[in-house]
Amino acid sequence: RGGPVLAVDGPAAAGKGTLAKRLASSLNLPYLDTGLLYRAVGRLVLDAGQDPAAPAEDFARRLRAEDTQRKGLRTQEVARAASLVAAQPAVRSALVETQRRFAQERGGVLDGRDIGTAIFPDADVKLFITASPATRALRRFLQMGEDPKAEGAAARLAAMEADLQARDAADAGRQAAPMQVAADAVVIETDTLSADAVLAEALRVVRERL
Ligand code: C5P
Repeated sequence: RGGPVLAVDGPAAAGKGTLAKRLASSLNLPYLDTGLLYRAVGRLVLDAGQDPAAPAEDFARRLRAEDTQRKGLRTQEVARAASLVAAQPAVRSALVETQRRFAQERGGVLDGRDIGTAIFPDADVKLFITASPATRALRRFLQMGEDPKAEGAAARLAAMEADLQARDAADAGRQAAPMQVAADAVVIETDTLSADAVLAEALRVVRERL
């Protein structure tokens, strides 16, 4: 490979994307959000009026770069569809090459669920970024511009937390490349860390390993 590969895995809304983007820019490496591939397939399936639990390999094989650049891939509906298509081994196989090829020329930072375990088991650095469900739900809530003190916010926050936990359980419990901490991954618990502190910790690990 033309450069180092950094795998950044972890559950939904743990701050993987924020960290992976900042790592990539600090280290001058290409960045790939692999969740977007599954979200884009989920979106295509929903657009076709198909049940995301039904076989979706064709949609994954036909995926084009512009499908991952569409607006509206960040909704909960698309996330749920993504998780359902992502449980299908044929969908995952259809996306493996795209992910491996991405890092071929210059290396890269990839975030997802199975980067360190399935896509790049030989990644130079593996990080597993996590936080409690309550922390992750609150971060996602604030990201969406919600005010935790607003009318009905407590119920919406609780629903968000339940939604994240259901998706994590599905992602960790599936047969095909389940979300798992790789044996040689460094786990970073981000509950009490700022985004800057997470980056500093990750860069310390990177310097140790590269
Ligand atoms: O990371 P994000 O929340 O965008 O991912 C959406 C869904 O895509 C996840 O819940 C998971 O089911 C799936 N995914 C995956 N493997 C990856 C990245 C995402 O199965 N490497």
